[in-house]
Amino acid sequence: MAETITIIDDRTGKQVTVPITGGVFPSSALRQLDPKLRVYDPAFLSTAACKSSITYLDGDAGILRYRGYPIEQLAEKSTFLEVAYLLLNGELPTDAQLEKWSYDVIHHTMIHENMRKRFVDGFHYDAHPMGMFTSAIAALGTFYPDAKDIHTKESLDKQTLRLIAKSPTIAAMCYRFSMGLPFVSPNNSLDYSANFLNMMFRIGDDHRVNPVLAKAMDLLFILHADHEQNCGTTAMRVVASSNADPYSAAAAASSALYGPLHGGANEAVVHMLSEIGSIDNVPTFIADVKAGKGRLMGFGHRVYKNYDPRAKIIKKAAYDVFEVTGKNPLLDIALKLEEAALKDDYFVQRKLYPNVDFYSGLIYQALGFPVEMFTVLFAIPRMTGWLAHYAELLRDDDQKISRPMQWYTGVDARDYVPLNKRK
Ligand code: CMC
Repeated sequence: MAETITIIDDRTGKQVTVPITGGVFPSSALRQLDPKLRVYDPAFLSTAACKSSITYLDGDAGILRYRGYPIEQLAEKSTFLEVAYLLLNGELPTDAQLEKWSYDVIHHTMIHENMRKRFVDGFHYDAHPMGMFTSAIAALGTFYPDAKDIHTKESLDKQTLRLIAKSPTIAAMCYRFSMGLPFVSPNNSLDYSANFLNMMFRIGDDHRVNPVLAKAMDLLFILHADHEQNCGTTAMRVVASSNADPYSAAAAASSALYGPLHGGANEAVVHMLSEIGSIDNVPTFIADVKAGKGRLMGFGHRVYKNYDPRAKIIKKAAYDVFEVTGKNPLLDIALKLEEAALKDDYFVQRKLYPNVDFYSGLIYQALGFPVEMFTVLFAIPRMTGWLAHYAELLRDDDQKISRPMQWYTGVDARDYVPLNKRK
């Protein structure tokens, strides 16, 4: 059967038939019918705004793949830096490529002294780390005159390397500032995730990062590295489409991630579990959600209408972490909540399942992170995904500056009324 779609404009009788490729037809079909015709699609529910070969997501089947590799296999067998290489380059690195990439990342983790002394020190003592992180990413670009040279591959690769290497340093710096602790310099003998934990938590010379916790951190970084056209990545692409430098675009993406419906949800989950307080209060909480008094945070997803595969992996990893740190007391409430929601008609009918944020906060808390740092922990690995999309967009000949159309619903033309004649 022909994979085409025929659209008829009943106002004129004009019709157009265009191919459907991979479930997608071009909007140029509508322009052929009438250049002024618009599709009203708030929040892009049916709009593919780009072609992408980075991440594949099937929300109904609960499938997530980076460059074709199932997330479950990457979570079990890979490392964050290897996954970062894969996302950016399209293929897993060879031994030599991985060695060079890891060396380069580790040797770009330092931050200019002025970033800390002049920039971060200028924040109010109780500034939210995510607000600090977002601003610091934008500010970082001002330290590099070549930041705006985005059309030379060599320069763009350099900015990409800097942003991925320095994000953990900036994140740890924001945390240490908010705690009034001295800044810990990057340690080149540690891997990406262990180095981050060291910069975060080092107190005293005998501090050693627990390898089980570093592995859990690395796993969480892998799971958060990309998620195709989510709100933050879309912000990244829209800003990139104006050819703004990657630091400015990443700051925009980071701002989008900050919101409680996006990367801020893991923080909201822990607040929610703490407020519920005990498994006895779970039924009342569920009843309140069903009555429209708030949402069950960490549940539901625009794309997943099935269990988020990342949530499954995180739930399993939580137990490894709790063996080292002791069980997070909120875990029992989370488990009870999940059990109650998954058999409740309200959640079943709406296909609301745990998403990545439902259990990640519990691990972060067990690792010693304050809730304010949770979204920052999401932003560090997502930086890689954002940058992979940034580069993909620049290479895509179909792309132009992003400029959606609107459906104007305001008043029609009218004459200006002088101040003394207004009622
Ligand atoms: N709790 C209770 N009801 C919900 C929830 C929830 N978490 N999520 C959706 N619903 C209901 C919603 O009220 C609506 O019901 P009705 O049809 O009766 O009006 C229906 O389900 C569809 O919801 P929607 O708001 O149209 O769905 P959406 O695709 O626009 O929203 C979402 C997706 C993730 C914003 C939403 O599910 C939500 O707010 N979840 C809680 C926040 C959260 O956990 N966010 C993290 C998302 S995963 C990480 C990330 O992407 O950053």
